[in-house]
Amino acid sequence: MDPISIHVNGRSFRREAEPRMHLGDFLRDELRLTGTHLGCEHGVCGACTVLVDGQPTRSCITFAVACEGREVTTIEGYDDDPVMRLLRPAFTRHHALQCGFCTPGMLTTARDIVLRLPDADEARVRLELSGNLCRCTGYQGIVDAILDVLQQQRDAPNVEFEQLRQRLSAPRMATVKPLAAAVSNDVPTHAPGKSPSVNGATSAELAEVDPVAMAKAKAKGNAIEVHFDVPYAVDQVWAFMGDLPAVASCLPGATVDSHEEEKVRGSISIKFGPMSAAFVGAARLQRDDAAKRAVLRGAGQDSLSKSRTQGDITYRLEALSADNTRVHVDMVYALQGPLAQFSRSGLVKDFVRRMVADFGKQITRRLGGEAVVSNEPQPTVSIAGMMLSVLWNHIRGWFGMPPRG
Ligand code: FES
Ligand code: FES
Repeated sequence: MDPISIHVNGRSFRREAEPRMHLGDFLRDELRLTGTHLGCEHGVCGACTVLVDGQPTRSCITFAVACEGREVTTIEGYDDDPVMRLLRPAFTRHHALQCGFCTPGMLTTARDIVLRLPDADEARVRLELSGNLCRCTGYQGIVDAILDVLQQQRDAPNVEFEQLRQRLSAPRMATVKPLAAAVSNDVPTHAPGKSPSVNGATSAELAEVDPVAMAKAKAKGNAIEVHFDVPYAVDQVWAFMGDLPAVASCLPGATVDSHEEEKVRGSISIKFGPMSAAFVGAARLQRDDAAKRAVLRGAGQDSLSKSRTQGDITYRLEALSADNTRVHVDMVYALQGPLAQFSRSGLVKDFVRRMVADFGKQITRRLGGEAVVSNEPQPTVSIAGMMLSVLWNHIRGWFGMPPRG
């Protein structure tokens, strides 16, 4: 057991907790604050969302001991909160709950939305809510309640509400050590005493990632297999795939900062529903010309969330005909940190499939002599839209129809 001092809802507690106990269990079992609900315990449903140092945090994927000295706010701690004073009656007015299981997490996320996004419209509210699942309401009442509070604040601004908004809009530096990161030592991390950049990676961060060391460790984790076809001869495609800056230019949001022979350093920016990330890191490419097969082995870190990823991308070319090539892509990756909450989801696989399909289209354009448009938008995904697409593909499958990419 480890000692832990923690502030919850304005009170200080000293307790002991097993290093592996997550914050949700700690709040419920040790402090008897049962308003925090646990649903999936995988970071997906959002029912367990609480504030840690003012930031919405999944308590099921956050170690209690990682919250040493932190300020935690649970659903029981909002009695004097000017935002909850508006949100709670709005939820009642708009019938934004039925069984109430998701409601503590919904209210916590709703509070974050109305504070952060004063001009959010319905589409934006739905996007921001996509990390919280509700089995009962169909979401309309929840969305209406949030829009109602936003409108109230526009029509008759509450001073305390506005002060809170201003306080929270100041840059927030601290993040809680996430569950997975706290138990793992197998990916590069910040050297002691170094202060990481918040709005972008520093050159020091880039230098910390050693592609040679990475190349020795084969990735373990989630696996995705996809392929795309390009209407060019296999030798032409193979030659192109060896030009790392050219290949990176076909991946929206990716940039190569430096490369030397088979080593490359760069970054890739993605948006996934309400979350965005810019992974900065390094990779090493190992090519087998005879087999037309290559492995890109890399690791990177998102400087905002401190989420880390490590993985292998293996690609293999298959000649379908003299002028057509199939590119098989096998990805094995491990994601650690706050963004890991979606790493086991089928949605991530769908996201990667779409990204690879776009990548294939860009490669085709590039091989055809077309310039790749610079400032290509980052891959952006609406989780709600993607869920509909996944559902639609399942329905097509029941009728024996092929899935749509
Ligand atoms: Fe934590 Fe579902 S219980 S996200
Ligand atoms: Fe029942 Fe949302 S109200 S899960």
